[in-house]
Amino acid sequence: MAEIDYLCALILKVEIALEMDKEIIEERQGEVMDIPNSQTGKKLFLESYGCQMNFSDSEIVASIMQKEGYVTTQDESEADVVLLNTCAIRDNAELRVRKRLEYFNSVKKKKNPALIIGVLGCMAERLKSKLLEEEKLVDLVVGPDAYRDLPKLVEQADDGSRGVNVLLSREETYADISPIRLNSNGVTALISIMRGCDNMCSFCVVPFTRGRERSRDPETIVHEAKYLFDQGYREVTLLGQNVDSFRWNLSRDSKVIDPEKLSADFADLLAKVAEVDPLLRVRFSTSHPKDMVDKVLETMARYENICENVHLPIQSGSTAVLERMNRGYSREWYMNRMASIRKFMPEAGVSTDLMTGFCGETEEEHQETLSLMEEVKYDFAYMFAYSERPKTLAERKFEDDIPEEVKKRRLAEIIDLQALHSISSNESRVGKQVRVLIEGESKRSSEQFFGRSSQNAVVVFDREDFKKGDYVTVQITDSTRGTLLGSIVKA
Ligand code: SAH
Ligand code: SF4
Ligand code: F3S
Repeated sequence: MAEIDYLCALILKVEIALEMDKEIIEERQGEVMDIPNSQTGKKLFLESYGCQMNFSDSEIVASIMQKEGYVTTQDESEADVVLLNTCAIRDNAELRVRKRLEYFNSVKKKKNPALIIGVLGCMAERLKSKLLEEEKLVDLVVGPDAYRDLPKLVEQADDGSRGVNVLLSREETYADISPIRLNSNGVTALISIMRGCDNMCSFCVVPFTRGRERSRDPETIVHEAKYLFDQGYREVTLLGQNVDSFRWNLSRDSKVIDPEKLSADFADLLAKVAEVDPLLRVRFSTSHPKDMVDKVLETMARYENICENVHLPIQSGSTAVLERMNRGYSREWYMNRMASIRKFMPEAGVSTDLMTGFCGETEEEHQETLSLMEEVKYDFAYMFAYSERPKTLAERKFEDDIPEEVKKRRLAEIIDLQALHSISSNESRVGKQVRVLIEGESKRSSEQFFGRSSQNAVVVFDREDFKKGDYVTVQITDSTRGTLLGSIVKA
């Protein structure tokens, strides 16, 4: 993001969502990814949608394309190639991309017939050749496991033949490709530690678009973290759809497969990355309630540089709905995991994902979501109305029977409740001191910096003589819904 005063951006999204369709949009939308200091060469306009994993993939794509002589541009009018790295999680995510593709298609027809338009990522995987053959919207369609094939497909498109590669792999992790950090603040970076998902939550399209789960060699992950630290980065976020199921050289029941080789579960990996340097902060996303074990929480508590923030998506407060969602845990199990988080880290920040209007959701079941929110009091939540996705278990098994206006009304109720909780969470930090990693200038004033606390709260304060990447202790004096305000008390 150009400037990630992240919670502020989210608050803005909340407000927009309240005005528009009462939906908070988790997936980031249409951000142009630019490599700094472009030289002359063939120009790539790369726009990314969706989750952090997709943004991390765009950094792999940029690296692959750079080796072929491409540089990225923020200016679409000078592009030789336009690539949209897309998301398919909800219908509206796809609608946005379709509008963009139609726009680039009209540019191609009217102004620049040589322009090559490609669709990458989850929508490419879901729709395969449909966008190319039936709708004739693009020149190439490349799924998330086929990016090594991009240069060849672009070259073929240049010669006039359209191409598709949507093969999913059981091995591909792009572990050997050094990502090009796009739109980087030089302080925080993403590291993909695994790909795919084996969970088959009944509402979710990801297992179809990203394929089978596979973990990346931990040595390459640690190496990437070290490299980033040496480049001046001070925070890494380890990414996976279910980081708790990371395993290397371990069987499903956690037995070492080859005793001669390194083995690691997620807690082991966390410790290894934390040991790169005490000044390198470590975050991760996303934890899965059914798999999150105390060993991970104990490791988080042991290392001061592992941030005390857990994003633990619940989806619904009703055990019956969770069963229909095939989530693999009950409300009670979830609350037991929450109690463990608080036991190991009483000050931990907690956030979640919530969905309203899933198939058959009764008014009582919706109330159970509200009551769970009251029990947990999340610092922050991403909230959505259920959107039926083709081929998922839910689409095949259940009726999408909750009227749109009911989904939206329930969504508005959880958004309103979460707003109260976010405000009181921030208010409770006033008067305390927090350790902050400075990420950049605040949006509101160049005289101020912003950074985040270990708990992931955005903190804004006067910059004094500090610089991006420094750690400072800030005395919190005031708060808004999305931000803590304060002043530096020590370096
Ligand atoms: N792997 C993560 C979630 C990834 S998708 C996990 O299991 O927690 C991010 C979020 O999008 C989900 O947590 C869910 O809240 C939401 N989501 C996924 N599919 C959806 C659908 N069909 N309709 C609405 N929201 C959906
Ligand atoms: Fe989707 Fe469930 Fe996998 Fe998350 S864990 S990506 S919600 S199938
Ligand atoms: Fe979207 Fe694919 Fe991520 S569907 S949320 S970009 S894994």
